[in-house]
Amino acid sequence: MVSQDKVEKSVGWLIVLTLLVVSVGGLLEIVPLFFQKSTTTPVEGVKPYDAVRLVGRDIYIREGCYNCHSQMIRPFRAETERYGHYSVAGEYVYDHPFQWGSKRTGPDLHRVGGRYSDEWHRAHLNQPRDVVPESNMPAYPWLDKTPAINTVGADVEAKMKALRKVGVPYSDEEIAGAKQAIEGKSELDVLIAYLQGMGLALKNTK
Ligand code: HEC
Repeated sequence: MVSQDKVEKSVGWLIVLTLLVVSVGGLLEIVPLFFQKSTTTPVEGVKPYDAVRLVGRDIYIREGCYNCHSQMIRPFRAETERYGHYSVAGEYVYDHPFQWGSKRTGPDLHRVGGRYSDEWHRAHLNQPRDVVPESNMPAYPWLDKTPAINTVGADVEAKMKALRKVGVPYSDEEIAGAKQAIEGKSELDVLIAYLQGMGLALKNTK
């Protein structure tokens, strides 16, 4: 047996035993999450992103929107009054990777779907100050001019196949029709489609 006295005076033992305790604690906390229903079963109404929204989501990531916007409404009154139902794990089942973010320079976007019209988003993303004069959000005027299929949309089929490998249930037909679905759409169109679908499953519940 290693006595307390010995452990406290021996750096080697201290390091080894500390690592052991932290690892066991960490495993006990993290591993059950992989099997818990509330984290692995989608909330009713949450569907995999269709091709258009999936590409829109990639533009959200490419442009770094997550640097200023979270997608994680915390269960506090101040948040639910402003944004709607707090976020639950089952809403992120098809997010690889999730876009929780860690900083809110702008508002949380988890339930922004349906809050504004497509036209509002179009004007806002082209030049935020046209609709919100005091905004310090950057303008993204190139999105409207760039066909999505030429950029992030080019490998949409491969991306859907890869997502299928990690459990997103895309059918062969959905993958085969992906390019056609984004054909003719600008980066702005697909980004708006992504935003408009956000958080709808729990939108009208409080
Ligand atoms: C430098 C920080 C910053 C970045 C980067 C940023 N935003 Fe914003 N965003 C803001 C701020 C601040 C506001 C609030 C003022 C406004 O409405 O313009 C906002 C507002 C919004 C709103 C309105 C939300 C609401 O509930 O009123 C949407 C939608 C939005 N941003 C989407 C995006 C998207 C999509 C991107 C990436 C293409 C992006 N933002 C990048 C700072 C940012």
